[in-house]
Amino acid sequence: MKKSINPSELKQLLAFAYPERRLLIWGTLFLALGSMVLLTFPQAVRITIDQAVETDNLALINKMGLVMLVILTIQAIAMALRYYLFTLAGERTVKQIRHKLFDKLLEQEIGFFDGQKTGDLMSRINSDSTVLQNTLSVNISMILRNLASAVGGLVFLFITSWKLSLWLIIILPPAALMAARFGGKVRKISKNVQHSLGAASAVADESLSNIRTVRSFAAEDVESSRFLGALDTALEIARNKIGLIARFTGVITLLGSMAIVLILWLGARMVIHNEITIGTLSAFILYTMTVAISVSTLGGLWTDFMNATGASSRIFHILNRTPLISNEKGRTLESLKGKITLRNIQFSYPTRPDYRVFENLSLCIEEGEAIALVGKSGSGKSTIAALIQRLYDPDSGEICIDGADIADLSAGWLRRQIGTVSQEPILMSTSIRENISYGKPDASDAEIKRAAEFAFAADFIGGFPRKYETLVGERGIQLSGGQKQRIAIARAMLKDPQILILDEATSALDAESEELVQRALQNLMKGRTVLIIAHRLSTIKNTDRVIVLSNGEIVEEGPHHELVNMPDGVYFQLVQKQVRGDGDR
Ligand SMILES: Nc1ncnc2c1ncn2[C@@H]1O[C@H](COP(=O)(O)OP(=O)(O)O)[C@@H](O)[C@H]1O
Ligand SMILES: [Mg+2]
Repeated sequence: MKKSINPSELKQLLAFAYPERRLLIWGTLFLALGSMVLLTFPQAVRITIDQAVETDNLALINKMGLVMLVILTIQAIAMALRYYLFTLAGERTVKQIRHKLFDKLLEQEIGFFDGQKTGDLMSRINSDSTVLQNTLSVNISMILRNLASAVGGLVFLFITSWKLSLWLIIILPPAALMAARFGGKVRKISKNVQHSLGAASAVADESLSNIRTVRSFAAEDVESSRFLGALDTALEIARNKIGLIARFTGVITLLGSMAIVLILWLGARMVIHNEITIGTLSAFILYTMTVAISVSTLGGLWTDFMNATGASSRIFHILNRTPLISNEKGRTLESLKGKITLRNIQFSYPTRPDYRVFENLSLCIEEGEAIALVGKSGSGKSTIAALIQRLYDPDSGEICIDGADIADLSAGWLRRQIGTVSQEPILMSTSIRENISYGKPDASDAEIKRAAEFAFAADFIGGFPRKYETLVGERGIQLSGGQKQRIAIARAMLKDPQILILDEATSALDAESEELVQRALQNLMKGRTVLIIAHRLSTIKNTDRVIVLSNGEIVEEGPHHELVNMPDGVYFQLVQKQVRGDGDR
């Protein structure tokens, strides 16, 4: 069992806090001041009782009342400042961590996301970071404060009466030992709590993102009980955790109270035997209470701290993960012609290592050539598109662009040379303008307009009251399929890529919008290397060459007019089916 926070993680946490060192140093100063001042309070009590009360010295009583007031005021101000400074430093640090975490997530390769649920990743940014935030802000300052008053209190205990203090020492070691053993347990269980919360959040995310499907299947109850199930699991683990903490808190509190009773009992006997004064006993009890309260608070804070290290290990798992495919590392080519070669590709998806999508695939697309990739669903067409964009690395074989292995090229640069339009274009929930210029944020208004015109989108955009500033609803829901598709085409047009990949770009459209989208695509294809994944004949006819894929292998290739005249061929069969299908429509 990993008992304490990993030293390298602690170092990283401290590195995040380093920019806030000024706030933290000031906070520590106020902390020291507040604790020190508070520790003088029992001395004032002792003087008041022993010197003023015993001798009926009214003037001294007044003076001591004033002194105590000043002491407590200074302490209160110092405490407020300490809280402010530490909390602010903590909030700022967590902001840094959240941002870094998000950037780190964006950096990860697509294969990583295949094995993750968005909801769980979101919970790392939200729930896990919040736990960390509490620790870094409030807890650290509280731990320091209580540590200071516990240690300071102990010192004063010895100064006040070393004989009574020796008795206290008997209680401390078992308490400290318990706290240490207990912390490890809480840390482990807290990690499980965060895991289960992440799982619940993943369920909620999935249901809400697919609310339309849920609604049309009237599956609200199913989703509700799925979420409830996840919440129940989380609650069960949380219950174990709070049970553990409750037992610990109880024991620590009991130990503290026992210490006070013990001191009162022993102390009273010492007063009777004239070994100490009543004032000294009062001061001693106040110090004992200070120490006892600090130690029991420290116990609670210790569990919180362990809690946070449980959550932080989920965060650090991502912060310290090196993506398998770096986005920017690698060289760039000065100019790109657009020849694509796949040689002896063997590939399985990382999440399905035992299923080979390609055993040994080779394919060459000349610069400026338009090829159509056809084949049954699941035959590997989209996977080829993903490999060319280097969303995944092949297990063996190489993919070259203009003769250069893409493994040596900067993946980010490569993707900027490739335009894609897919079946379900994803638009961001921003304005139409921002969606069109997504791949080229510095595009001028004129460029954006021209791209929209080429994509036959300018007309319908002009029909909206706010034109290019029209906000696209979440996931583009307020636009029709054909409109979204034409915005996606304008987006690709503006990017002006040398290589274009169209993955079933027209298959989700009705005949009427397909016509317009088809024409927009014709505009987009001019002068580029194009890979069209299609099952509509109308799209395929405009290409130079057709490649027929079946179970990850190329089974036929040649121009459409040749393949379509081979009655024994796979393509012929596909076209026959298609013609019948189209006739139905
Ligand atoms: N992200 C993924 N993770 C695991 N397997 C996948 C993934 N995407 C596709 N596959 C599998 O790879 C095979 C090829 O899929 P794909 O290239 O999408 O086919 P197509 O585009 O020709 O319909 C299918 O068996 C599919 O189930
Ligand atoms: Mg596909």
